[in-house]
Amino acid sequence: MLRILLTGSNGLLGQKIIYALIKRKDVELIATSKGANRTAEKEGYIYVPMDITNHEDVRSVVMKYKPHCIINTAAMTNVDACEQHQQECLKMNVDAVKNMVHICEQEHIHLVHLSTDFVFDGTAGPYKEEDQPNPLSYYAWSKFESEKIVLQSGIDSAILRTIIIYGVVDDKQRSNVIVWTINSLRQQKAINVISDQFRSPTLAEDLADACVQAALKKAKGIYHVSGAETFSILEIVNRTADFFGLDKMFIHPVTTAELNQAAKRPLVTGFVIDKAIRDLEFKPHSLHEGLEIVKQQLEK
Ligand SMILES: NC(=O)c1ccc[n+]([C@@H]2O[C@H](COP(=O)([O-])OP(=O)(O)OC[C@H]3O[C@@H](n4cnc5c(N)ncnc54)[C@H](OP(=O)(O)O)[C@@H]3O)[C@@H](O)[C@H]2O)c1
Repeated sequence: MLRILLTGSNGLLGQKIIYALIKRKDVELIATSKGANRTAEKEGYIYVPMDITNHEDVRSVVMKYKPHCIINTAAMTNVDACEQHQQECLKMNVDAVKNMVHICEQEHIHLVHLSTDFVFDGTAGPYKEEDQPNPLSYYAWSKFESEKIVLQSGIDSAILRTIIIYGVVDDKQRSNVIVWTINSLRQQKAINVISDQFRSPTLAEDLADACVQAALKKAKGIYHVSGAETFSILEIVNRTADFFGLDKMFIHPVTTAELNQAAKRPLVTGFVIDKAIRDLEFKPHSLHEGLEIVKQQLEK
């Protein structure tokens, strides 16, 4: 029986990992996140509140449950907030990882850590695992720093980099590009949508499955895990509007320069995902299939 400790289980990816793992008879799951459990399903796993910035808290939870593997999805993920609150970002995305790695080293725990396409500068996408990162923002720098801490420690670890995760979460409050588009257009709210940034949107369920495979196979090294198609963000939003029959008149295309966000973003990312397909049985849904899944979940 593989014992997995999950961090950030209230998050978009975290919740999907819970749902993927509770179906399995060969895994015992200890889900952790800050505060109360917000995943609707409460059966089939243990939930423990755990703040990853509280180093002693993390140590005592790990020592109590003795996991074979930690899947670390918890992070400060709002890119502009990271730019504006750098100390908070450093604590969450770097210092907490340093502590976790130290514990994994002492207890011989396999770590599956999440990272981002933002480690790249967006001048040469789609990117392979061995391409050279060049982070443009504080968030991107913090995630690249966390990767180096994990890799240089020598612990057994896999780093799964991903791109724009989308999907429906249980409390239906957290947003992502697809849910934001649907909600805004249903309320006939005008939205500014970037036309000159290109990404490969990733269905949260697909990424969750890749994280589970990485844990089961005790995968090592960096993996690029995203949808197989690359679109401009405007195209993702337009396709979502078409799929749900929503009025595109409320969509206003803007350029990166016009939007002038606090954190700089890479223009063109996208990943070469062959390694994940080969080693992690990764089979990403197309955006159209992903939208179908989102539709079914929203109708529940
Ligand atoms: N979302 C994307 O498009 C994207 C793209 C590339 C990479 N990634 C990476 O993928 C991973 C998962 O992303 P996600 O979108 O699932 O993130 P998310 O929805 O923001 O989830 C992160 C979770 O961590 C929890 N958390 C916050 N502070 C914590 C703390 N101090 N201790 C413990 N848990 C804490 C959050 O709790 P609350 O819900 O209470 O705030 C949240 O539930 C992250 O490492 C992110 O950097 C995400």
